[in-house]
Amino acid sequence: MYKSITDSQILISELMLPSYTNFGGKIHGGYILGLMDQIAFACASKHSGSYCVTASVDQVNFLNPIEVGELVTMKASINYVGKSSMIVGIRVESENIRTGNKKHCNSSYFTMVAKDETGNTVEVPGLELKTKLDAKRFIKAIKRKKTELKKQEELNTIYKNVDEHLNLLKDYRVKIDF
Ligand SMILES: CC(C)(COP(=O)(O)OP(=O)(O)OC[C@H]1O[C@@H](n2cnc3c(N)ncnc32)[C@H](O)[C@@H]1OP(=O)(O)O)[C@@H](O)C(=O)NCCC(=O)NCCS
Repeated sequence: MYKSITDSQILISELMLPSYTNFGGKIHGGYILGLMDQIAFACASKHSGSYCVTASVDQVNFLNPIEVGELVTMKASINYVGKSSMIVGIRVESENIRTGNKKHCNSSYFTMVAKDETGNTVEVPGLELKTKLDAKRFIKAIKRKKTELKKQEELNTIYKNVDEHLNLLKDYRVKIDF
């Protein structure tokens, strides 16, 4: 079975309240991450027809701070499906209500896995790619997964033999004490 991307797309808008701020008076990054996790869950659950768990989150860069009183809009759609996993792409924008000025605050990719009521993973429907943008997003997800796998393999070698990598530390502000 294949399902369309538009059927599970989610859009939410929320006004940023003073209670969401950090000590610097800007909106707390953790609050935004929590909202992103919820919207990823809603999108993935809609596509799969199952409850989902968050398996991983691709790197999140906060490009611009979000101010109290701004309207934050998050758009989520399925970018990729594997067997039981789905990658949900999320774009976060905030808007100054008075000026209408919009800022791109971050884009991130949440990997969600569908599970049944006993906690076993379940197969999710395939994805109908109806536009070139849909295909572009799917291909980007495949490439990101491959890059991530390669990076993990490379990082694992450090744990296996740290001595071979100690030389790298000479340009850094560390004092080796062992
Ligand atoms: C994520 C989780 C379901 C993976 O379970 P698992 O037994 O390792 O399952 P599998 O190895 O069969 O992997 C299932 C799918 O998840 C994907 N996956 C597993 N770990 C992943 C990770 N860290 N990042 C991205 N994808 C991951 C696999 O690639 C696989 O995808 P596919 O079915 O599309 O091929 C399991 O580790 C889990 O339940 N983690 C806790 C999730 C959670 O509680 N999240 C909230 C945190 S507070």
